[in-house]
Amino acid sequence: MTLIIAGRGFARMLIRYSLDRAQALGHRLVVLIGEHGLYQRYGFEPALPHGILLPESKDRDRLQILALTPGALDGLSGAVCGDSIPSMPDRRLMA
Ligand SMILES: CC(C)(COP(=O)(O)OP(=O)(O)OC[C@H]1O[C@@H](n2cnc3c(N)ncnc32)[C@H](O)[C@@H]1OP(=O)(O)O)[C@@H](O)C(=O)NCCC(=O)NCCS
Repeated sequence: MTLIIAGRGFARMLIRYSLDRAQALGHRLVVLIGEHGLYQRYGFEPALPHGILLPESKDRDRLQILALTPGALDGLSGAVCGDSIPSMPDRRLMA
């Protein structure tokens, strides 16, 4: 038996929940790797024009960013780094 769950709003629900939680926890912005066509409806914009990038990553053009508080992107640029970035098997995310 094949269970089809695509197109039933699960991604929308998870994304909205995650963004609400991030905001409730006081985070000022969210950065992710993904398709702009999927994430623009949540307010994400490409990070590269802001000068925000992932060093040594093949996904630099797919980096999306969202300000959760007004002005969070003002004057922000440079490499995404930090020790809380989850590792992925075939991608290097750490700066
Ligand atoms: C992309 C994916 C996460 C969407 O999950 P889903 O549960 O089917 O999505 P939802 O039903 O919540 O749809 C949410 C909205 O996103 C849209 N959408 C879904 N996939 C999309 C895509 N690849 N590009 C643009 N929009 C997309 C839907 O049309 C829907 O639009 P609506 O709000 O106007 O109705 C899922 O199909 C998937 O895992 N695909 C394979 C991997 C993949 O493509 N990942 C992309 C990571 S960037």
